[in-house]
Amino acid sequence: MKSLLAWLRALFSQAEPVVAEASAKDAAAIGQLHGASFRRGWSDDEIERMLLDRNVIAHRATIGRAFAGFVMSRVAAGEAEILSIAVAGPRKGRGLAGRLLRHHLGRLAGVAVRTVFLEVDEDNAPALRLYRRAGFREVGRRAGYYPTPGGKPSNALVLRRDLV
Ligand SMILES: CC(C)(COP(=O)(O)OP(=O)(O)OC[C@H]1O[C@@H](n2cnc3c(N)ncnc32)[C@H](O)[C@@H]1OP(=O)(O)O)[C@@H](O)C(=O)NCCC(=O)NCCS
Repeated sequence: MKSLLAWLRALFSQAEPVVAEASAKDAAAIGQLHGASFRRGWSDDEIERMLLDRNVIAHRATIGRAFAGFVMSRVAAGEAEILSIAVAGPRKGRGLAGRLLRHHLGRLAGVAVRTVFLEVDEDNAPALRLYRRAGFREVGRRAGYYPTPGGKPSNALVLRRDLV
């Protein structure tokens, strides 16, 4: 009976995403997911340097042993810029990015960040929905900011959220 309970507990705890601070040990997993999610990937070295930077705050989500998502920001003088957020293909559309972002914004508020900025492709519907739901508002637009292979470059929106 005891072992059945332990097995059930393990089964359900594996299904539940766990959000935690990311460290340099996560560089390869973040690099892989970043490369799969964006046209311009980051090298593992680049990511490791960012994760070792005291001004960078990063969180990862795992489900069981699987790496499921990350979010990363650079902090300076009471402001933060979200550098990247991504969720692994099979985990998308289940609220994981929302959960990661809420946790991340809480941590940013805890280190006295007052304002958070980010740039997002105006054609990226899931990301825009995620950010608007999290309270970000448009404060600028950069025309033709993102190159599109063989097509017209797309516009970037600059979004802002005040934490205090
Ligand atoms: C953007 C991204 C991180 C969202 O991750 P996710 O875990 O699927 O997001 P969530 O499940 O928390 O959903 C966020 C919102 O987007 C909506 N959404 C999800 N997929 C969508 C789609 N294909 N089209 C439109 N909206 C979508 C959800 O319904 C939700 O909105 P709601 O709360 O109003 O219902 C994920 O799509 C991703 O990794 N994209 C590639 C990397 C990227 O573009 N990052 C953002 C760079 S600025």
